[in-house]
Amino acid sequence: MLEPFAAVDVIRAKRDRNVLTDPQIDWVIDAYVRGVVADEQMAALAMAIFINGMNEHETVRWTTAMIDSGERMDFTHLPRPTVDKHSTGGVGDKITLPLVPVVAACGGAVPQLSGRGLGHTGGTLDKLESIPGWRALLSNDEMMQILTEVGGVICAAGDGLAPADKKLYALRDVTATVESIPLIASSIMSKKIAEGAGGLVLDVKTGSGAFMSQPELARELAQTMVRIGNDSGLRTRALITAMDVPLGWAIGNALEVQESVDVLAGGGPADVIELTLTLAREMLDLAGIDADPEKTLKDGSAMDCWNRMIRAQGGDPHAALPKAHEQQEVVATHSGMVTHMDALALGVAAWRLGAGRARKEDPVSAGAGITLHVKPGDLIEAGEPILTMFADDGARIPQALEALHGAIEVGPAHSTITRLPLILERITG
Ligand code: URA
Repeated sequence: MLEPFAAVDVIRAKRDRNVLTDPQIDWVIDAYVRGVVADEQMAALAMAIFINGMNEHETVRWTTAMIDSGERMDFTHLPRPTVDKHSTGGVGDKITLPLVPVVAACGGAVPQLSGRGLGHTGGTLDKLESIPGWRALLSNDEMMQILTEVGGVICAAGDGLAPADKKLYALRDVTATVESIPLIASSIMSKKIAEGAGGLVLDVKTGSGAFMSQPELARELAQTMVRIGNDSGLRTRALITAMDVPLGWAIGNALEVQESVDVLAGGGPADVIELTLTLAREMLDLAGIDADPEKTLKDGSAMDCWNRMIRAQGGDPHAALPKAHEQQEVVATHSGMVTHMDALALGVAAWRLGAGRARKEDPVSAGAGITLHVKPGDLIEAGEPILTMFADDGARIPQALEALHGAIEVGPAHSTITRLPLILERITG
C-alpha cells in the first residue's frame, strides 16, 4: 500500500511547532497500529508533542483517531441509564469499589472497565483480585448480563477498545512522555468514549500523590477532558479532588477492599464516604436519576449490590481476605501534632512493600500495604503508632522505611496545618 505520508515529515512538523493536519493525525495513529510507523518514530513524535503540545482541535482529532482504531461498545439497549467514572489515580484511591454498587443500588448501570496498577498508584483490578475466586476477565455477554441484573460491573477492558492507546501508552511509559496534557486527555477519553456509557464523571486528582501535582495543571487537564467528552456526545463533568494525603486509612489491595466493605456497611473513613457520595450524586444527576445515594449505605442496598457483583464474577464476598505474613509499626519519636504526611511517599512505600508493581508482568501481594493511624491535624504521643506496614516478605520493610524518610512530620501540638480541601473544584464545561 502506498502511504500518503512519511512518519519523519509528521515528526518534523511537530518538532518545528506546526499544527498537525487531520489527515496527518488520522494516518499516523492508523499507521502506528499497522506497524508502518515504528516505535522509535512514535516515541519521537510523542516527545515532540510532549514539548510543543497540541491545540484543542489536534487533541480532539487525535482522540477520535484512537477511538477509531478499535471497537465501540453499545449499551443503549440496557434497561438502565449508563454512567461511568474515571479517576486519574491516587494513593489509597479505592473509591470505585464502593461507588459502583452505590450508583447501581440507585438504579444506574455502571460499566467500569478498569486497569491494573503501575507505579505508586494501585489498580482497581489488583484490589478486587484479592477477593478469593474473583475474576477480572469477562466476555461481552457476561458483562452485559451482570450490568442488566445487578447494575454495576468492574472488569478488565478488552483488547479491542482503543488499541492505538494501549500501544502508545506502553511506549509513553518507557519514554518519559506520560505527563503531557493532550496525550493524557486523549488517552483517557479515547477509552471512555469507546466504552459507550451515556455519561462520565472524572475525578482529577491534584497534590503530591497525583499525576498532576499542581492544581492549575489538574484544572487544565480536567477542562480538556470535559470538552473532548461533551464535544463527542458523551456528557462529561469533572471534579478536582485532593491527593496531598492518602484517601482513607488503608493503602494496599486487600486492605483497601476491607475499607470499601466498611463503607458499604455504613462505617468507614469520612473522606472516602464523602468522595464516594459526591461522585455518586454527579453520576446520578448525569443519568437523570433522582435518588439519595447516602440511603443505600444505611439500608444495605449498596452492600447487596456489591455482594451480587462479586458473586457474579466468581468471588466469595464473605471469604476472609489475605493477610500479609509480616508487619511493623512506625511510631512517633516525640509528642505533638501530625503536620505533614506525603501521599507520594506513602504510595511508594506501599508499592515497595509489595502492593504495587514496577513492570506490567510483575505479581502483586494482596495483603501488603500500609494502614495509617493518624492524619495531618491529629495529636499523637511519643511511642504511639503513626502507621503499620504489612509485607509478605520482611526484607521489603527496610526499603519501604527508606521511602518514608521525611514523609511524615510531627510538629508542636498547636501547629497550624495547610491541607487541600477534599473537593477543590467542579468543572461542567
Ligand atoms: N491514564 C491513562 O489511561 N492514560 C494516560 O495517559 C495517563 C493515565
